[in-house]
Amino acid sequence: MTPPALTRRRALLGSAAALLGPWPSRIVFADDGSVVSATRPGTGPILLNGNENPYGPSPAARRAILDSMGAAPRYAEESIEVLRRQIALHEGVDPAQVLVGSGSGELLRMAGLLAARTLAGGELVAARPTYEELPEFAERLGLTVRWVDVDAEHRHDLDAFLRAITSRTSLVYVCNPNNPTGTTVATDQLAAFVRAVPGPVTVVVDEAYVDFTDVPGRSTAVGLLREAPNLVVLRTFSKLHGLAGLRVGYGIAPASLATRLGALSLVWPNSTGIAAATASLNDRGFLQATRTAIVDDRTRVQGALDRLGRPRADSKGNFVFFDTGRPVAEFQECMLAQGLRVGRRFAGYDTWSRVTIGVRDEVDRFLAALPGALKA
Ligand SMILES: Cc1ncc(COP(=O)(O)O)c(C=O)c1O
Repeated sequence: MTPPALTRRRALLGSAAALLGPWPSRIVFADDGSVVSATRPGTGPILLNGNENPYGPSPAARRAILDSMGAAPRYAEESIEVLRRQIALHEGVDPAQVLVGSGSGELLRMAGLLAARTLAGGELVAARPTYEELPEFAERLGLTVRWVDVDAEHRHDLDAFLRAITSRTSLVYVCNPNNPTGTTVATDQLAAFVRAVPGPVTVVVDEAYVDFTDVPGRSTAVGLLREAPNLVVLRTFSKLHGLAGLRVGYGIAPASLATRLGALSLVWPNSTGIAAATASLNDRGFLQATRTAIVDDRTRVQGALDRLGRPRADSKGNFVFFDTGRPVAEFQECMLAQGLRVGRRFAGYDTWSRVTIGVRDEVDRFLAALPGALKA
Protein backbone atom coordinates (compact mmCIF):
# COMPACT_ATOMS: atom_id res chain seq x y z
CA MET A 1 0.00 0.00 0.00
CA THR A 2 1.29 3.51 -0.85
CA PRO A 3 1.78 5.46 2.35
CA PRO A 4 -0.83 8.22 2.48
CA ALA A 5 0.41 11.81 2.12
CA LEU A 6 0.77 13.86 5.29
CA THR A 7 -2.32 15.97 5.69
CA ARG A 8 -3.09 18.64 8.27
CA ARG A 9 -5.41 16.23 10.01
CA ARG A 10 -2.83 13.43 10.16
CA ALA A 11 -0.17 15.87 11.30
CA LEU A 12 -2.48 16.93 14.12
CA LEU A 13 -3.08 13.37 15.22
CA GLY A 14 0.61 12.56 14.89
CA SER A 15 1.74 15.56 16.91
CA ALA A 16 -0.85 14.81 19.58
CA ALA A 17 0.60 11.31 19.84
CA ALA A 18 4.12 12.69 20.18
CA LEU A 19 2.98 15.25 22.74
CA LEU A 20 1.18 12.80 24.92
CA GLY A 21 3.69 9.94 24.92
CA PRO A 22 2.88 6.29 24.30
CA TRP A 23 -0.63 5.61 23.09
CA PRO A 24 -2.30 2.34 23.92
CA SER A 25 -2.65 2.08 20.16
CA ARG A 26 -1.00 3.74 17.13
CA ILE A 27 -3.43 4.83 14.50
CA VAL A 28 -2.83 6.09 10.97
CA PHE A 29 -5.75 7.81 9.28
CA ALA A 30 -6.25 8.29 5.51
CA ASP A 31 -7.44 11.57 4.03
CA ASP A 32 -11.08 10.45 4.09
CA GLY A 33 -10.80 9.79 7.83
CA SER A 34 -10.68 6.00 7.50
CA VAL A 35 -8.13 4.00 9.49
CA VAL A 36 -5.15 2.83 7.40
CA SER A 37 -3.52 0.86 10.18
CA ALA A 38 -3.62 0.56 13.93
CA THR A 39 -1.29 -1.33 16.18
CA ARG A 40 -0.78 -1.70 19.90
CA PRO A 41 2.29 -2.15 22.07
CA GLY A 42 2.88 -5.82 22.85
CA THR A 43 2.34 -6.08 26.60
CA GLY A 44 -0.11 -8.49 28.28
CA PRO A 45 -3.02 -10.23 26.61
CA ILE A 46 -5.10 -8.32 24.08
CA LEU A 47 -8.31 -7.36 25.87
CA LEU A 48 -11.31 -8.23 23.72
CA ASN A 49 -13.61 -8.91 26.67
CA GLY A 50 -14.75 -5.54 28.04
CA ASN A 51 -16.46 -3.76 25.11
CA GLU A 52 -14.08 -0.82 25.51
CA ASN A 53 -12.78 1.27 22.60
CA PRO A 54 -8.97 1.14 22.51
CA TYR A 55 -8.83 3.83 19.81
CA GLY A 56 -9.75 6.36 22.47
CA PRO A 57 -9.41 8.83 23.99
CA SER A 58 -9.58 11.25 21.07
CA PRO A 59 -6.61 13.63 20.59
CA ALA A 60 -8.72 16.54 21.89
CA ALA A 61 -9.70 14.50 24.96
CA ARG A 62 -6.06 13.55 25.59
CA ARG A 63 -5.08 17.22 25.60
CA ALA A 64 -8.02 18.04 27.89
CA ILE A 65 -6.97 15.28 30.29
CA LEU A 66 -3.50 16.81 30.65
CA ASP A 67 -4.89 20.33 30.94
CA SER A 68 -7.37 19.21 33.62
CA MET A 69 -4.54 18.94 36.14
CA GLY A 70 -5.05 22.60 37.01
CA ALA A 71 -8.69 21.92 37.87
CA ALA A 72 -7.89 19.04 40.22
CA PRO A 73 -8.00 21.09 43.45
CA ARG A 74 -11.53 22.28 42.62
CA TYR A 75 -14.91 20.50 42.69
CA ALA A 76 -16.17 19.97 39.16
CA GLU A 77 -19.55 21.68 39.66
CA GLU A 78 -19.16 24.37 37.00
CA SER A 79 -17.64 22.12 34.35
CA ILE A 80 -20.39 19.54 34.90
CA GLU A 81 -22.88 22.31 34.14
CA VAL A 82 -21.01 23.21 30.93
CA LEU A 83 -21.05 19.56 29.80
CA ARG A 84 -24.73 19.24 30.71
CA ARG A 85 -25.56 22.22 28.49
CA GLN A 86 -23.44 20.90 25.62
CA ILE A 87 -25.16 17.51 25.82
CA ALA A 88 -28.54 19.25 25.81
CA LEU A 89 -27.58 21.16 22.65
CA HIS A 90 -26.21 18.02 21.04
CA GLU A 91 -29.38 16.04 21.81
CA GLY A 92 -31.82 18.89 21.13
CA VAL A 93 -33.34 18.78 24.63
CA ASP A 94 -33.62 21.19 27.55
CA PRO A 95 -30.65 21.17 29.98
CA ALA A 96 -33.14 20.36 32.77
CA GLN A 97 -33.66 16.99 31.05
CA VAL A 98 -29.99 15.98 31.22
CA LEU A 99 -28.31 14.13 34.08
CA VAL A 100 -24.54 13.66 34.11
CA GLY A 101 -23.34 10.66 36.10
CA SER A 102 -20.15 8.82 37.05
CA GLY A 103 -20.60 6.43 34.15
CA SER A 104 -24.01 5.35 32.93
CA GLY A 105 -23.66 2.61 35.56
CA GLU A 106 -24.36 5.19 38.24
CA LEU A 107 -27.48 6.29 36.35
CA LEU A 108 -28.66 2.66 36.01
CA ARG A 109 -28.33 2.29 39.77
CA MET A 110 -30.16 5.58 40.38
CA ALA A 111 -33.05 4.16 38.32
CA GLY A 112 -32.98 1.05 40.54
CA LEU A 113 -33.01 3.21 43.69
CA LEU A 114 -35.94 5.25 42.38
CA ALA A 115 -37.91 2.08 41.61
CA ALA A 116 -37.19 0.60 45.05
CA ARG A 117 -38.24 3.86 46.68
CA THR A 118 -41.46 4.08 44.63
CA LEU A 119 -42.58 0.52 45.36
CA ALA A 120 -40.74 -1.57 47.95
CA GLY A 121 -40.36 -5.18 46.79
CA GLY A 122 -41.55 -4.35 43.28
CA GLU A 123 -40.49 -5.97 40.01
CA LEU A 124 -38.06 -5.21 37.22
CA VAL A 125 -38.57 -6.69 33.75
CA ALA A 126 -35.36 -7.34 31.78
CA ALA A 127 -34.16 -9.48 28.87
CA ARG A 128 -32.11 -12.63 29.28
CA PRO A 129 -29.30 -12.29 28.39
CA THR A 130 -28.67 -8.59 28.87
CA TYR A 131 -26.27 -6.21 30.63
CA GLU A 132 -26.68 -7.22 34.25
CA GLU A 133 -25.66 -4.14 36.24
CA LEU A 134 -29.20 -2.86 36.82
CA PRO A 135 -30.91 -6.26 37.33
CA GLU A 136 -28.24 -7.34 39.82
CA PHE A 137 -28.37 -4.05 41.72
CA ALA A 138 -32.18 -4.14 41.72
CA GLU A 139 -32.12 -7.61 43.28
CA ARG A 140 -29.86 -6.29 46.03
CA LEU A 141 -32.43 -3.56 46.63
CA GLY A 142 -35.13 -6.18 47.16
CA LEU A 143 -36.75 -6.00 43.71
CA THR A 144 -37.66 -9.21 41.91
CA VAL A 145 -36.32 -9.53 38.36
CA ARG A 146 -38.71 -11.01 35.81
CA TRP A 147 -36.42 -12.29 33.08
CA VAL A 148 -37.79 -12.44 29.55
CA ASP A 149 -35.84 -14.65 27.15
CA VAL A 150 -34.70 -13.01 23.93
CA ASP A 151 -36.39 -14.28 20.76
CA ALA A 152 -34.98 -16.74 18.22
CA GLU A 153 -32.96 -13.92 16.65
CA HIS A 154 -31.52 -12.95 20.06
CA ARG A 155 -33.57 -9.73 20.17
CA HIS A 156 -35.62 -8.28 23.03
CA ASP A 157 -39.11 -9.81 22.80
CA LEU A 158 -41.14 -6.69 23.58
CA ASP A 159 -44.51 -8.49 23.35
CA ALA A 160 -43.29 -10.90 26.02
CA PHE A 161 -42.05 -7.90 28.02
CA LEU A 162 -45.59 -6.47 28.00
CA ARG A 163 -46.99 -9.81 29.16
CA ALA A 164 -44.43 -9.90 31.99
CA ILE A 165 -45.49 -6.51 33.37
CA THR A 166 -47.76 -6.81 36.43
CA SER A 167 -49.20 -4.40 38.97
CA ARG A 168 -45.94 -4.93 40.95
CA THR A 169 -43.69 -3.79 38.08
CA SER A 170 -41.94 -0.49 38.72
CA LEU A 171 -39.09 -0.68 36.20
CA VAL A 172 -38.43 -2.02 32.70
CA TYR A 173 -34.92 -2.27 31.27
CA VAL A 174 -34.39 -2.28 27.50
CA CYS A 175 -30.77 -2.45 26.39
CA ASN A 176 -30.64 -1.25 22.76
CA PRO A 177 -28.33 -2.43 21.20
CA ASN A 178 -28.36 -5.26 23.69
CA ASN A 179 -25.22 -6.40 25.47
CA PRO A 180 -24.13 -9.21 24.89
CA THR A 181 -26.13 -10.02 21.74
CA GLY A 182 -25.63 -6.67 19.97
CA THR A 183 -29.14 -6.90 18.52
CA THR A 184 -31.48 -3.93 18.26
CA VAL A 185 -35.21 -3.43 18.40
CA ALA A 186 -36.70 -1.26 15.64
CA THR A 187 -37.49 2.29 16.73
CA ASP A 188 -41.17 2.00 15.73
CA GLN A 189 -41.53 -1.21 17.78
CA LEU A 190 -39.87 0.48 20.73
CA ALA A 191 -42.18 3.48 20.33
CA ALA A 192 -45.27 1.24 20.37
CA PHE A 193 -43.87 -0.59 23.40
CA VAL A 194 -43.15 2.60 25.36
CA ARG A 195 -46.70 3.82 24.64
CA ALA A 196 -48.15 0.51 25.85
CA VAL A 197 -46.25 0.35 29.16
CA PRO A 198 -48.57 1.42 31.99
CA GLY A 199 -48.00 4.96 33.37
CA PRO A 200 -46.34 4.30 36.74
CA VAL A 201 -43.65 2.03 35.27
CA THR A 202 -40.30 3.67 34.50
CA VAL A 203 -38.74 2.50 31.21
CA VAL A 204 -34.95 2.66 31.00
CA VAL A 205 -33.56 2.46 27.46
CA ASP A 206 -29.82 1.90 27.69
CA GLU A 207 -28.12 3.20 24.53
CA ALA A 208 -24.49 2.61 25.54
CA TYR A 209 -23.76 1.22 22.04
CA VAL A 210 -26.13 3.29 19.92
CA ASP A 211 -23.23 5.06 18.15
CA PHE A 212 -22.27 1.80 16.43
CA THR A 213 -25.71 1.21 14.87
CA ASP A 214 -26.27 1.83 11.14
CA VAL A 215 -27.98 5.20 11.62
CA PRO A 216 -27.42 6.29 15.25
CA GLY A 217 -29.70 9.34 14.91
CA ARG A 218 -32.59 7.11 13.85
CA SER A 219 -31.93 4.33 16.37
CA THR A 220 -32.24 6.46 19.48
CA ALA A 221 -35.29 6.64 21.72
CA VAL A 222 -34.64 10.32 22.57
CA GLY A 223 -37.42 11.38 20.16
CA LEU A 224 -39.92 9.44 22.29
CA LEU A 225 -39.24 11.58 25.38
CA ARG A 226 -41.80 14.17 24.29
CA GLU A 227 -44.63 11.67 24.64
CA ALA A 228 -43.33 9.40 27.43
CA PRO A 229 -43.18 10.92 30.92
CA ASN A 230 -41.62 7.76 32.38
CA LEU A 231 -38.84 7.17 29.87
CA VAL A 232 -35.14 7.62 30.58
CA VAL A 233 -32.50 7.17 27.87
CA LEU A 234 -28.94 6.43 28.98
CA ARG A 235 -25.66 7.07 27.15
CA THR A 236 -22.02 6.73 28.07
CA PHE A 237 -18.60 8.13 27.21
CA SER A 238 -17.14 4.66 27.90
CA LYS A 239 -17.75 3.14 24.46
CA LEU A 240 -17.38 5.21 21.25
CA HIS A 241 -15.53 7.96 23.13
CA GLY A 242 -13.04 5.48 24.63
CA LEU A 243 -13.16 6.99 28.14
CA ALA A 244 -14.30 3.99 30.22
CA GLY A 245 -11.73 4.56 32.96
CA LEU A 246 -12.79 8.16 33.49
CA ARG A 247 -16.40 7.30 34.39
CA VAL A 248 -18.76 9.70 32.62
CA GLY A 249 -22.23 8.90 31.35
CA TYR A 250 -25.47 10.77 30.93
CA GLY A 251 -29.21 10.30 31.00
CA ILE A 252 -32.00 12.17 29.26
CA ALA A 253 -35.50 12.14 30.71
CA PRO A 254 -38.53 14.41 30.97
CA ALA A 255 -37.56 17.18 33.41
CA SER A 256 -39.64 15.96 36.37
CA LEU A 257 -38.25 12.41 36.12
CA ALA A 258 -34.72 13.84 35.69
CA THR A 259 -35.19 15.79 38.93
CA ARG A 260 -36.40 12.73 40.84
CA LEU A 261 -33.53 10.62 39.52
CA GLY A 262 -30.95 13.36 40.06
CA ALA A 263 -31.85 13.50 43.75
CA LEU A 264 -30.52 9.94 44.09
CA SER A 265 -27.04 10.60 42.68
CA LEU A 266 -24.30 9.33 44.97
CA VAL A 267 -21.12 10.99 43.69
CA TRP A 268 -20.13 13.90 41.50
CA PRO A 269 -18.23 12.97 38.36
CA ASN A 270 -14.52 13.86 38.46
CA SER A 271 -13.05 16.95 36.81
CA THR A 272 -10.68 15.03 34.49
CA GLY A 273 -13.48 12.83 33.20
CA ILE A 274 -15.72 15.85 32.63
CA ALA A 275 -12.96 17.74 30.77
CA ALA A 276 -12.24 14.71 28.57
CA ALA A 277 -15.92 14.06 27.83
CA THR A 278 -16.54 17.71 26.92
CA ALA A 279 -13.59 17.73 24.51
CA SER A 280 -14.51 14.35 23.05
CA LEU A 281 -18.13 15.32 22.40
CA ASN A 282 -16.82 17.95 19.97
CA ASP A 283 -14.09 15.87 18.31
CA ARG A 284 -16.40 14.72 15.53
CA GLY A 285 -13.63 13.74 13.10
CA PHE A 286 -12.08 11.30 15.53
CA LEU A 287 -15.45 9.84 16.54
CA GLN A 288 -16.43 9.31 12.91
CA ALA A 289 -13.09 7.69 12.02
CA THR A 290 -13.07 5.27 14.94
CA ARG A 291 -16.73 4.42 14.43
CA THR A 292 -16.03 3.56 10.80
CA ALA A 293 -13.00 1.45 11.73
CA ILE A 294 -14.95 -0.49 14.35
CA VAL A 295 -17.98 -1.05 12.14
CA ASP A 296 -15.72 -2.23 9.27
CA ASP A 297 -13.93 -4.68 11.54
CA ARG A 298 -17.23 -5.89 13.01
CA THR A 299 -18.29 -6.67 9.43
CA ARG A 300 -15.00 -8.51 8.90
CA VAL A 301 -15.48 -10.63 12.05
CA GLN A 302 -19.11 -11.41 11.25
CA GLY A 303 -18.13 -12.36 7.68
CA ALA A 304 -15.41 -14.71 8.95
CA LEU A 305 -17.86 -16.37 11.35
CA ASP A 306 -20.35 -16.84 8.52
CA ARG A 307 -17.70 -18.45 6.33
CA LEU A 308 -16.80 -20.76 9.22
CA GLY A 309 -20.49 -21.65 9.60
CA ARG A 310 -20.76 -20.39 13.18
CA PRO A 311 -24.20 -19.20 14.33
CA ARG A 312 -24.09 -15.58 15.51
CA ALA A 313 -26.32 -12.70 16.50
CA ASP A 314 -26.65 -9.68 14.20
CA SER A 315 -24.55 -7.25 16.20
CA LYS A 316 -24.86 -3.49 15.96
CA GLY A 317 -22.44 -2.90 18.86
CA ASN A 318 -18.63 -2.82 19.08
CA PHE A 319 -18.66 -6.57 19.76
CA VAL A 320 -19.84 -9.81 18.19
CA PHE A 321 -21.68 -12.66 19.98
CA PHE A 322 -21.37 -16.10 18.43
CA ASP A 323 -21.56 -19.83 19.05
CA THR A 324 -18.11 -21.33 19.50
CA GLY A 325 -19.57 -24.85 19.41
CA ARG A 326 -17.81 -25.82 22.64
CA PRO A 327 -18.04 -24.82 26.33
CA VAL A 328 -17.10 -21.14 26.31
CA ALA A 329 -14.51 -21.58 29.10
CA GLU A 330 -12.56 -23.92 26.80
CA PHE A 331 -12.76 -21.42 23.94
CA GLN A 332 -11.55 -18.66 26.29
CA GLU A 333 -8.61 -20.83 27.38
CA CYS A 334 -7.59 -21.52 23.77
CA MET A 335 -7.79 -17.84 22.90
CA LEU A 336 -5.79 -16.86 26.00
CA ALA A 337 -3.08 -19.28 24.95
CA GLN A 338 -2.90 -17.15 21.77
CA GLY A 339 -2.68 -13.94 23.84
CA LEU A 340 -6.34 -12.91 23.46
CA ARG A 341 -8.82 -12.45 26.31
CA VAL A 342 -12.40 -12.93 25.06
CA GLY A 343 -15.82 -12.79 26.69
CA ARG A 344 -17.34 -15.05 29.32
CA ARG A 345 -20.47 -17.20 29.41
CA PHE A 346 -23.90 -15.53 29.55
CA ALA A 347 -27.12 -17.08 30.90
CA GLY A 348 -28.64 -19.54 28.45
CA TYR A 349 -25.68 -19.35 26.03
CA ASP A 350 -23.22 -21.93 27.35
CA THR A 351 -21.19 -22.20 24.15
CA TRP A 352 -21.35 -18.56 23.01
CA SER A 353 -18.65 -15.95 23.40
CA ARG A 354 -18.75 -12.17 23.09
CA VAL A 355 -15.71 -10.65 21.42
CA THR A 356 -15.01 -6.93 21.45
CA ILE A 357 -13.77 -5.24 18.28
CA GLY A 358 -10.31 -3.90 19.13
CA VAL A 359 -7.88 -1.95 16.97
CA ARG A 360 -7.15 -3.38 13.53
CA ASP A 361 -4.15 -5.56 14.31
CA GLU A 362 -5.95 -6.98 17.36
CA VAL A 363 -8.82 -8.01 15.11
CA ASP A 364 -6.28 -9.57 12.70
CA ARG A 365 -4.81 -11.55 15.60
CA PHE A 366 -8.28 -12.70 16.67
CA LEU A 367 -9.22 -13.79 13.16
CA ALA A 368 -5.97 -15.72 12.80
CA ALA A 369 -6.57 -17.59 16.09
CA LEU A 370 -10.28 -18.21 15.53
CA PRO A 371 -10.38 -21.38 13.39
CA GLY A 372 -8.03 -23.24 15.74
CA ALA A 373 -9.90 -22.19 18.88
CA LEU A 374 -13.26 -23.33 17.48
CA LYS A 375 -12.06 -26.93 17.23
CA ALA A 376 -12.66 -29.01 20.36
C1 LIG B 1 -25.20 -1.86 28.04
C2 LIG B 1 -24.30 -1.18 29.00
N1 LIG B 1 -24.77 -0.18 29.73
C3 LIG B 1 -24.00 0.47 30.59
C4 LIG B 1 -22.69 0.10 30.79
C5 LIG B 1 -21.90 0.83 31.83
O1 LIG B 1 -21.11 1.77 31.26
P1 LIG B 1 -20.40 2.91 32.08
O2 LIG B 1 -18.96 2.72 31.89
O3 LIG B 1 -20.93 4.18 31.48
O4 LIG B 1 -20.80 2.79 33.52
C6 LIG B 1 -22.14 -0.93 30.04
C7 LIG B 1 -20.74 -1.33 30.23
O5 LIG B 1 -20.22 -2.25 29.66
C8 LIG B 1 -22.97 -1.60 29.13
O6 LIG B 1 -22.53 -2.64 28.39
